[in-house]
Amino acid sequence: MPLDIVLGLQWGDEGKGKIVDMIGKEYDYVARFQGGPNAGHTLIIDGKKTVLHQIPSGIFRPNVTCVIGNGVILDPIILKRELEGLIQNGIEVPNRLLISDKAHLILPTHAALDRMAEAAKDIKIGSTLKGIAPAYRDKIARLGLPMGAISKENFADRLLHVFNSHQELLPEAFRTDLEAFQNCLDACQYLKQFQILPTELVLNNALKRGQKVLAEGAQGTLLDIDFGAYPYVTSSNTTAGGACTGLGVAPTYVRKIIGVFKAYATRVGNGPFPTELTDNQGEQLRQKGGEFGSTTGRPRRCGWIDLPALRYAIRINGVTELAITKMDVLTGLDHLKTCTDYEVNGERHDIYPCTVDETIIPHYETLSGWDYISDGINIHSNARNFIQYLTKQLDTPITFISVGPGRNDNIILPA
Ligand code: GDP
Ligand code: IMO
Ligand code: MG
Repeated sequence: MPLDIVLGLQWGDEGKGKIVDMIGKEYDYVARFQGGPNAGHTLIIDGKKTVLHQIPSGIFRPNVTCVIGNGVILDPIILKRELEGLIQNGIEVPNRLLISDKAHLILPTHAALDRMAEAAKDIKIGSTLKGIAPAYRDKIARLGLPMGAISKENFADRLLHVFNSHQELLPEAFRTDLEAFQNCLDACQYLKQFQILPTELVLNNALKRGQKVLAEGAQGTLLDIDFGAYPYVTSSNTTAGGACTGLGVAPTYVRKIIGVFKAYATRVGNGPFPTELTDNQGEQLRQKGGEFGSTTGRPRRCGWIDLPALRYAIRINGVTELAITKMDVLTGLDHLKTCTDYEVNGERHDIYPCTVDETIIPHYETLSGWDYISDGINIHSNARNFIQYLTKQLDTPITFISVGPGRNDNIILPA
């Protein structure tokens, strides 16, 4: 014991990376359990910004061993680039990174299949086009290549076989050149120097010894393949159960489930977003919050905080405590709004209903804003009221309050 889990409660980009980096020093292992390079987790340490796509956000904590679990899918080219960047910056990686032999590979042709599928759709998902859906599809169809395959003698042949089988599915305009195949093969050769092994055994042994493991989620609950607004979702279980299947660790080990959410809401890509602000207020949040995708640079859609959606996410995940981020972005507003419930066909719902579409009418409450959060000694009473209000509305304690992107930009409320 124990396994603690950090996961997103909205549509991704809640600040999971910052929270994992901040609390990661308390753990022996930090392990990513799902998703792939569609994720972008931003860490700002001593003013220096790093965006991690596939490597766990514990990598800047020297005492932590990082694990890429079996539930993750890996693009070897992106991973190589990421590893080289960290190593160049003096981060000790090879001894501190374990990669599951069961994590599946994303080939360049998976990204091409993603582009083809998205181009063919009338209503686009707004995928990051990193090959996520096609790679998970191959895994489920038992056609994929797990990381364990790269050390086998016949790996180049197997890779070429999968690559060619994808090329046959692609029309000329989407085909991938052989140079991309070679880059992928070279990146796989490079990855052989890292520790590729059954990480589920490492983690179970560690837990049995009494060591601490922090599971790091990617994306957010409302992008979960089962519980998001399908088909506007990603292709993995971003929710708490995903940590168990994505790491091979039993639910009996789970202690805390820390749900991360922003003080407002954002979504990148398409799909329902009941509290979206398409006016100047939304633009103000986007500019002040720097709401542009960490992976694709796309402007994020912005809106007021959505309490029915958060209540749903808290329930689905069994969240035990909350981390709120970006409180500082609301500073300077005279008033702010919270969506307290939805109206669907004349009925009020205080929890996100199974089907969410444009017919939903969000109902709002207006709260007083603050022009500073803390003067160094006291926390502004309206900022404190906002936290107390959210704690009550969400019926869950808020234990972390982030007020800036840096590792140390946090406030602690006196008990
Ligand atoms: P993740 O995918 O959940 O790890 O989140 P991202 O890194 O994609 O997006 C969160 C963005 O907000 C990043 O640019 C962070 O540096 C930034 N950030 C995190 N916490 C705070 C905060 O409390 N205040 C502000 N202003 N920015 C924050
Ligand atoms: P992190 O871990 C925000 C969104 C995409 C798209 C949908 C499906 O940084 O929070 P996919 O590439 O999976 O086929 O895209 O999911 N999406 C994210 N949005 N943060 C992410 O990750 C995301 N990963 C995927 O924009 O709408
Ligand atoms: Mg992100």
